[in-house]
Amino acid sequence: MALCAVAIGSAGATAHAQPGVFRGPYLTDVTSDAITLLWESPTPTTGTIRYGVAAVTENVAVDNVPATHHEVRLTGLSALAAGGTKFVYELEVDGMTYPGSFRTAVVGDAPFSFVVFGDNRSSVPQHMAVLDALLAEPTEAYFAMSTGDMVSDGNNESQWDSFFTIEQPFLAKTPVYLAIGNHEVDGGDWQVPRRIFAAPTTVPPASNDESFYHFVYGNAQIIVINIETHTLFPSVLGVFGGDQEVWLTDVLDNPPAGIQHRFLFIHQGPYSSKPGRDGNFWLRTWLPDLKAANIDVIISGHDHYAERGFAVNGVPYVIHGGGGAPLYDTLGPRVVADHTILYGETRLGYVVVDVDGPHAEVSIRTLDGFTIDNFSYGDPSHPAACVSASDCGGPPTYGCPDGSWECVKSFCRYTCDPGLVDSLVTCFTNTDCENAIGAVCGGQAHCEMPDINPLEWHCLCDVAPQCVSDANCAGLEPPIAGCAGSWACVDETCEFSPDTVCDPPGPTDAGVPDATAAPVDDAGSTAGDDAGGNPANPDAGGGSGSSGGCGCKASSNESPYGVLVWLLLALAALGRRRRVGAWR
Ligand SMILES: [Fe+2]
Repeated sequence: MALCAVAIGSAGATAHAQPGVFRGPYLTDVTSDAITLLWESPTPTTGTIRYGVAAVTENVAVDNVPATHHEVRLTGLSALAAGGTKFVYELEVDGMTYPGSFRTAVVGDAPFSFVVFGDNRSSVPQHMAVLDALLAEPTEAYFAMSTGDMVSDGNNESQWDSFFTIEQPFLAKTPVYLAIGNHEVDGGDWQVPRRIFAAPTTVPPASNDESFYHFVYGNAQIIVINIETHTLFPSVLGVFGGDQEVWLTDVLDNPPAGIQHRFLFIHQGPYSSKPGRDGNFWLRTWLPDLKAANIDVIISGHDHYAERGFAVNGVPYVIHGGGGAPLYDTLGPRVVADHTILYGETRLGYVVVDVDGPHAEVSIRTLDGFTIDNFSYGDPSHPAACVSASDCGGPPTYGCPDGSWECVKSFCRYTCDPGLVDSLVTCFTNTDCENAIGAVCGGQAHCEMPDINPLEWHCLCDVAPQCVSDANCAGLEPPIAGCAGSWACVDETCEFSPDTVCDPPGPTDAGVPDATAAPVDDAGSTAGDDAGGNPANPDAGGGSGSSGGCGCKASSNESPYGVLVWLLLALAALGRRRRVGAWR
């Protein structure tokens, strides 16, 4: 049996005197014919992998290169069993054995399921609770997608020890793929998680950086992009756009043959309901491309709650950062100007995606395995299926009020009026923004360069920082009713660390629409009557200009870059519009 062993680097941690494996075995890059098995050991080791369909004694592969980090590619599996077959294996290192299993990738349009989880962030009890829930899933996941922030400090080896201790029962049987988060990166450096994980390289054109990649599983394409160490700038004469932009354009323009689903993963999503955040600006500039490329769902983490909705142009999105990290008080389902929020709640959990031929169902699960929100597309027999937009009814309760429905893959999507899109208005002065979007923002808007992107000057509605110190957060109610814990002020917003694992069973928010029902003709909610934020915590603030903590006012933010930045922005915008056509 073919064996490719890659033994590289040093595991780094030296505090582990015990022999054998201290991280792993874990799995990634599974196809119908091959899989990569990894492990790390505190001292250089070799290893023997025994594996088979009925028993581990059927085949053997030996990695005889002493190293602390191992990546072993088992190939030729399709000669042993058809795709989708479950294998069992046993890794032997230093005389100790570590059992596991894996399922080779399905082929064609055979059904499969995968799970999505993220933002574990070294919160041990909460992370353990999420992992227990994943293990209790009645249908074993064929693979798992992490939306990043697996640990609090990606270059802290001891935190990875804890991560693998918690995750081991799951990762030993579930291939995992990582969309790196900001906590994997320290000053642009993510060498430790890059060493630990391996990106797939099975579908050309493969990237030269393991932080963005794509792969095909069955009839689905999984695309993973990275805004933490790479850009999504528009390319102007090859100056600003980097290798990810070129790569992503090529990937979007060239779907692999036989694909019926395209899922896009990124750590930071297009929007955010965390007070003081607004999502990733440059990802939003790609929304026209993503829609044109038939991306079915954008899935992200970073925000420590669960949310689902439609982007400004109707592309479905899911945010779930409820993998254990300190909780954020989502503003909840509410009227917003540039996208539609169908569900939002602060709670721990994960996402399950079930794919069956052209049909896919995306479900947000609680810790007790309850599906608290879900949607599906591609199933004409579904009770909420549409044939045309006329089947879709009026505006959703928590969407932009002046949008329209469209029927895509038998699924109703809601598209906002692009004229209400604040986030794509570039600017030079605050006055530019007050003129452009002031009416949408209640009269208050400013020109801002959030994050690290030098060209990201754009208009935002004024949103006061939620806090400047922990004291500003002290009076807040817990984001989960009755949950004991403490608030802290982090990056001008309040984060809640529960004393124990807090997660209410079943649905808790009576305002959440029934995702399985046909869209309701309910235009009764307006920007004026439903900006009150989370019904569970009305003190947390609602829309623009509200504050749950210190009542601070956003500072004036005139651009200091002057004419130069404005010219660069104009060039960037021209380049972008040339590429995406006449949208906007
Ligand atoms: Fe994050």
